[in-house]
Amino acid sequence: MKERILILGGTTEAYALAEALSNHEDLRVINSLAGRTSDPRLPAGETRIGGFGGPEGLTEYLREQRIRAVFDATHPFAATMGWNAHQACREAGVPLLRLERPAWMPEEGDRWELIQGWDQGVNALQEGGSRRVLLAVGRQELTPFAGLDGIWFLIRAVTAPDPMPDFPAAELLLARGPFDLDSERILLDDYGIDTIVCKNSGGGATAAKLIAARERGIRVILHQRPSRPAVALATSVEGALNWLEIRREQWRCEREPIRAAG
Ligand SMILES: NC(=O)c1ccc[n+]([C@@H]2O[C@H](COP(=O)([O-])OP(=O)(O)OC[C@H]3O[C@@H](n4cnc5c(N)ncnc54)[C@H](OP(=O)(O)O)[C@@H]3O)[C@@H](O)[C@H]2O)c1
Repeated sequence: MKERILILGGTTEAYALAEALSNHEDLRVINSLAGRTSDPRLPAGETRIGGFGGPEGLTEYLREQRIRAVFDATHPFAATMGWNAHQACREAGVPLLRLERPAWMPEEGDRWELIQGWDQGVNALQEGGSRRVLLAVGRQELTPFAGLDGIWFLIRAVTAPDPMPDFPAAELLLARGPFDLDSERILLDDYGIDTIVCKNSGGGATAAKLIAARERGIRVILHQRPSRPAVALATSVEGALNWLEIRREQWRCEREPIRAAG
């Protein structure tokens, strides 16, 4: 019988993990996507789409589907799911690993201002005299900035916000990473950007804007990651595979106790 693995996904790491597990014949990999995008790229293995109905719904799902291990590979800012996974796995007695890319760290020359919420970001823009802002916060988190007068925004998003908040002065740029350093330099220069507002997502796909900002002495207002439960953590797919290997060995012993003991 194949052991069932659940990957809570929606990230590059989740796709890579699903791909790495796809050639393990003793595993059945189920990917879970929130369903935020209408036509998502499908990961290797099976895919289910949509919320579970809170931690209770996830607990029930884990029991019904007889899931043996869960990877929380959701985005660093998708914290609700992390807390739900923690609670559900504890209730259902299923091992949980968080797979999370490391956060970006400041380097010499950076002009970062760290914030914990977008209201702080709005204040920082007003008080710091920003005039031309690259807003890369995700299409669902634009609203707090829409009321700001006297600031022009370049809003970069993967898909168009729907509805688009009513900004007094803004341009929408639809683009999907990865973004390379040269194109980020050109973008900042061509649009005369003096401030970037973004999340500390980490990873290589969207880090180039921070290097280009450092080179130009541009302010970066950086949203810190939300808090998460203390669970086993891997920062790479390789680390996640190592963690699973220990579980697989345990499962083999449970299936074949005599051979394992001998
Ligand atoms: N937040 C970001 O900046 C960001 C960026 C890139 C990608 N994403 C991806 O987009 C998805 C949603 O992000 P979010 O910030 O809205 O998450 P969130 O705030 O942590 O989750 C909100 C609710 O969405 C459902 N959900 C989230 N991830 C799910 C998954 N992988 N499978 C099934 N249901 C899921 C859960 O609903 P129920 O309670 O009903 O189970 C959860 O309570 C995540 O999968 C994340 O990896 C998020």
